Amino acid sequence: MLDDDVSALPREQLEAELRALREQFRLANKKLRGIQEIGQILASEQNHDRMLAEIIKRTTALMGADRATLFILSDDHDTMWSKSTHGGEIKTIELKVGQGIAGWVARYKRQVNVKDAYKDARFDAEVDRASGYRTKSILCQPLQDMQGNTIGVIQVLNKHEGYFTTSDEQLLRAIGGQASVCILNSQLYVDVVTKNIDLLDTQLKLEERTAEVELLFRVERAAAMAMSKEQALGGVLECMLAEYPSDGAVVLLHDAQRRALVAEHAVGPAAAWLGEARISLDGTLAGEVFGRRAARCLRQSDSQLLAGLDLPVPDGVHLRNAVCVPITHNEDTFGVLVVVNRRDPRGFEERDVRILGVIASRMALSLMLARAMEEERKAERLAAIGKTLSGVVHDLKTPLTIISGYARALAREDDAERRQEYRELVKKQIDAINGMIQELLRFSRGESQLLVRKVWVKDFVAELAESLREEFAGTGVELVVETPYKGAVRMDAPKMRRAAFNLARNAKEAMLERGHGTFTVHIEARDDRVLFSFADDGPGIPPEMEGRLFDSFATHGKKNGTGLGLAIVKRIVDEHGGTLDLTSIPGHGTTFTIGLAPA
Ligand SMILES: Nc1ncnc2c1ncn2[C@@H]1O[C@H](COP(=O)(O)OP(=O)(O)OP(=O)(O)O)[C@@H](O)[C@H]1O
Ligand SMILES: [Mg+2]
Repeated sequence: MLDDDVSALPREQLEAELRALREQFRLANKKLRGIQEIGQILASEQNHDRMLAEIIKRTTALMGADRATLFILSDDHDTMWSKSTHGGEIKTIELKVGQGIAGWVARYKRQVNVKDAYKDARFDAEVDRASGYRTKSILCQPLQDMQGNTIGVIQVLNKHEGYFTTSDEQLLRAIGGQASVCILNSQLYVDVVTKNIDLLDTQLKLEERTAEVELLFRVERAAAMAMSKEQALGGVLECMLAEYPSDGAVVLLHDAQRRALVAEHAVGPAAAWLGEARISLDGTLAGEVFGRRAARCLRQSDSQLLAGLDLPVPDGVHLRNAVCVPITHNEDTFGVLVVVNRRDPRGFEERDVRILGVIASRMALSLMLARAMEEERKAERLAAIGKTLSGVVHDLKTPLTIISGYARALAREDDAERRQEYRELVKKQIDAINGMIQELLRFSRGESQLLVRKVWVKDFVAELAESLREEFAGTGVELVVETPYKGAVRMDAPKMRRAAFNLARNAKEAMLERGHGTFTVHIEARDDRVLFSFADDGPGIPPEMEGRLFDSFATHGKKNGTGLGLAIVKRIVDEHGGTLDLTSIPGHGTTFTIGLAPA
């Protein structure tokens, strides 16, 4: 029209045309702004539901429609779910693909513009019947991804004036395109967020697991490094308490005779009274945990059960929470572990109980090992008695011969003074015999770790030299033995040989770096002692060992050193009531000297 000769038209008509053009422009502008706004909102809205609601609201207003519905195809590609506006209220509806006009559009991926729904065979009046709404005009647009796959449908109902026009069709196509991108983005976003949440969850779980593994590792190390049952239980309990700060923890062991669980080891601020615990197996919660081999976890609300633990709780102390875990290993149940008043107000949870169960079973292993070791020691003791019995009988021969000599002399002697003297001598020999027998008994009962006998130095050295020659064979280490002392010593010969052997092995290992050296065993009497010295001409004790040379697990400069060798030497010497001295000169050598009482 603008191309025509406008001057030929009447003024009023021209003005009317201009008004109409302005109105068209205003509307077009409004729509453009509407679309821009939708785009902006969609781009900034990260909440999936809120974004869909916003698309619906804006589209309804922009299209001059009564309502709008946005259907999103579900993952199974069979159904669509939707959000729709109902007077400001948003409702969720489900629709089958193929059902109704929106379903048709989803299936055939084509826009549909219907003036009167009830005249269209594709229309499903059921939805209207259910909602009481009366659908008239429908404009429905498929939403697609880049590959042209349907991801949903946007539908607007009942144009306020007349029906949806071609420009509405174009407008909805434009909105649809933009909405598709946003929906896809938002789905991607939700996907990423969900995955991130999953990852975070996994990370937290992993961190928890790592903490658990670290705790169990510390427990294992404490138990493995312990030299005794007490050390093992104490070490494990301390590790546990560091992880679960509580008032205290106690290990109660089964006492079959008393039908009770008796405190064996307690730690923490409440150790004093926990250590007094003696709980009957009958009618108590700890007894039940022991009998059923099933842990119990008690919270503040279980006040009756907490009392049922039957712990000797002092006045003024209140039990807020506790956990009672059986100490089991395979078929054996040794007792229970009780931890009271965890500082964490949540008390103990299932996960904690599970970890405490693992810790308790590590304790059971230590108890089992201690039991096995005790049995082994008993067997060893019996074997040692068997081995040395002939020697003991031999030792007894000397005082017996002396006694029989004096007895005979006594029979012949008339002089009272002489007789008294003989009697004293006999008594002294009997005391010596008694001493020997007592020693044997103490050893067999396990009260003494040593089976001390009178040992001739030459016999001791002969045997030692033989095993040392074997140890040094092919290493370039030479053995020198000097024994100015020819007498006897009271000692447990196998144990002393073990001590000497440990010293010799250390010397060999120290001298090996140079490839040759001399190890000298020298035995002499000085003052009231017999001194056994073991000297090498190696590099000397490394300064790093200062102050901890005789500690267990103290080692330096060895690939496979456990650091037990010298700790064992020290223990053996101490058991003998002996002395242990050391001189070491860097670059010149080391001498260990053991001093024992002569026989
Ligand atoms: N004769 C020696 N010369 C030099 N260093 C020595 C000598 N004896 C001991 N040491 C040092 O003292 C450390 C502790 O010795 P110890 O026998 O207790 O443990 P280890 O030899 O390291 O290990 P293990 O004996 O248990 O196999 C050694 O690692 C070594 O560094
Ligand atoms: Mg050693």
